[in-house]
Amino acid sequence: MGEGLKNLIMKTAIYYYSGTGNTKYGVEYLKKCFEKHNNTCELISICDKPSFEPEHYDLVGFASPVYHGYPAKVMIDFIEKISCCAMEIPAFTILCPCFNLFELGYWGAKEHFYGMLAKKNIRVITESGFFGEASHPVIRTFFLGPFFKFIGTPYLSKGRPDSRDTSAISDFSETITKNFNNYKSGIVPKLPHSKIKKWISTNVVFSFVEYCNKHFLIKKVNKNECTKCGACFNVCPVNAIVLNEYPVFQSSCIHCQNCINICPNGAIEYNTLRKVNPYRSAYGAHQSDI
Ligand SMILES: Cc1cc2nc3c(=O)[nH]c(=O)nc-3n(C[C@H](O)[C@H](O)[C@H](O)COP(=O)(O)O)c2cc1C
Repeated sequence: MGEGLKNLIMKTAIYYYSGTGNTKYGVEYLKKCFEKHNNTCELISICDKPSFEPEHYDLVGFASPVYHGYPAKVMIDFIEKISCCAMEIPAFTILCPCFNLFELGYWGAKEHFYGMLAKKNIRVITESGFFGEASHPVIRTFFLGPFFKFIGTPYLSKGRPDSRDTSAISDFSETITKNFNNYKSGIVPKLPHSKIKKWISTNVVFSFVEYCNKHFLIKKVNKNECTKCGACFNVCPVNAIVLNEYPVFQSSCIHCQNCINICPNGAIEYNTLRKVNPYRSAYGAHQSDI
């Protein structure tokens, strides 16, 4: 590696989505790690509907929570809308699952991420992830509730991200720099790729979580509390809320819970899971005004 490359200052952008704040926390930490080494890093929330302009950066990152074995649907839609890049763009990915037993929570999300980006001529040169507390309401009800919390607390990452995750992110910032320098010298690393995990994501995890969501996650609006302010409508990242005087939830809802967290009167709740407090990580949700 040449001296020039060793001292290369990277200009990075990270396009991220975070439903309840964990992924956002991770990318903010990564930005600090980059800046410590004089690299620049811009964080771009895809909920702000930004245009994808990789030509302004040396390297782009994509960060998302894992939602039923895939990157979140908001991220998938964002990538699908990108036009295929004329020149290959080097990139890295970061995923944030909750299920940490043997790192199973990723399922095949990494593989799906690389595949989607490759179709746009975006080459993933390195990938990583860290754990965040379970945000899925059904999982929280059963495995972080009074009876099964002995299972949920260790394996569903209660209280994370924590120092284990920040240390992994700090190491990852160094790997990114190393792999970027290698890439510039023509060395492209081979990333782990498991067809089995990809198959499990698509055919087992996705179908199972979709089934649970359809049958157990029905939202209702308390009409005595709702002031029809429209905050929920504005914050929905997939436009799954129709304001028919009161909010009505469409089947395209991804259960990110932004609407529940933003409602000033707590008027939205899950019909079937009344006892679950909506989860918002200690670090806040992705919208700075929530
Ligand atoms: C709809 C939905 C599906 C999820 N699917 C998975 C999954 O397949 N594997 C996993 O480990 N965690 C899953 N989770 C948990 C989140 O990935 C995890 O809590 C993450 O830390 C949330 O990140 P965020 O706060 O940035 O949104 C799911 C959460 C939701 C709401």
